[in-house]
Amino acid sequence: MSEHAPVLPEEVLAGLTVRPGGRYCDATFGRGGHTAAILEAVGPAGRVVALDRDPEAIRAGQRRFAGDQRLTLVKGSFGALETHVRAAGLDGELDGVLMDLGVSSPQLDEAERGFSFMQDGPLDMRMDNESGQGAAQWLARAGEREIADVLHTLGEERYARRIARALVAARAEAPVTRTRQLADIVAAAVPTREPGRHPATRSFQAIRIHVNRELEELEAALPQAVRLLDAGGRLCVISFHSLEDRIVKRFIRREEQGDPVYAGLPEIPPHARARLKRMGAAVRPGAAEVAANPRARSAVLRVAARLAA
Ligand SMILES: C[S@@+](CC[C@H](N)C(=O)[O-])C[C@H]1O[C@@H](n2cnc3c(N)ncnc32)[C@H](O)[C@@H]1O
Repeated sequence: MSEHAPVLPEEVLAGLTVRPGGRYCDATFGRGGHTAAILEAVGPAGRVVALDRDPEAIRAGQRRFAGDQRLTLVKGSFGALETHVRAAGLDGELDGVLMDLGVSSPQLDEAERGFSFMQDGPLDMRMDNESGQGAAQWLARAGEREIADVLHTLGEERYARRIARALVAARAEAPVTRTRQLADIVAAAVPTREPGRHPATRSFQAIRIHVNRELEELEAALPQAVRLLDAGGRLCVISFHSLEDRIVKRFIRREEQGDPVYAGLPEIPPHARARLKRMGAAVRPGAAEVAANPRARSAVLRVAARLAA
């Protein structure tokens, strides 16, 4: 069974300023690396509610943390963060919310999940493989223009149009249902090669982000996380590509400024006040961590503190 090494573990604990007896939400449980570290630091009186939309992550978590009354594991999306946290009995006053975005190593390593162009599997790519449509279904129905737009915007793929054309031509011959098949079609359509990078890397990333609505989920979750935090509580977000990081960075900046309509006025109503304060610069893993855990390579951690209302 594949494991998942938590990224920036020390930096996350420091960013969350985990304290004994504190209440935290790990919105991306994965295999529980960060949750385990938080549980250790909160001690016997602490509480953690952990979410993952992947049913396999929750099953693995139930095995790993069986009997730990401090932890509530929820199968659900962080797009509905407030609902899940409240239903778990934490009424909102959290000391910290962590989001470690993207996919876990077990998701990538398991061929059957269909995330990887390195091994052949069904073209699925859903984190929650119990609902919604997988990558094969989307590719079977999407128009050429839509496919090109997804590859261009979410994969920053410069050959998006060519790839989309090739995919539409290929599916007219036979349905595209396997990861290897998709990787081969994309590789044949991309005229150049980047050293050390499979030519289908960007396309797989784009389709995965699209199928899982990853950016929409993130946009929905960030304001909910802020509402759930107590004054002084911390928001920690680890992103793995520039599209996510841009959303996080801009969100924190906006929340630091408050509603610009009221800027400079003597009385600012509570709903228009700044709600966050950025804590330091973005944190990236050092060379030793990247050498030990190559998946950490592109990680960026941003931390902000909730201001008093
Ligand atoms: C990078 S892994 C987290 C690893 C975890 N921090 C650990 O130490 O094991 C990201 C996890 O977030 C989950 N995930 C991604 N988007 C999600 C969403 N919108 N709602 C809930 N879980 C999500 C994925 O299923 C995956 O298991």
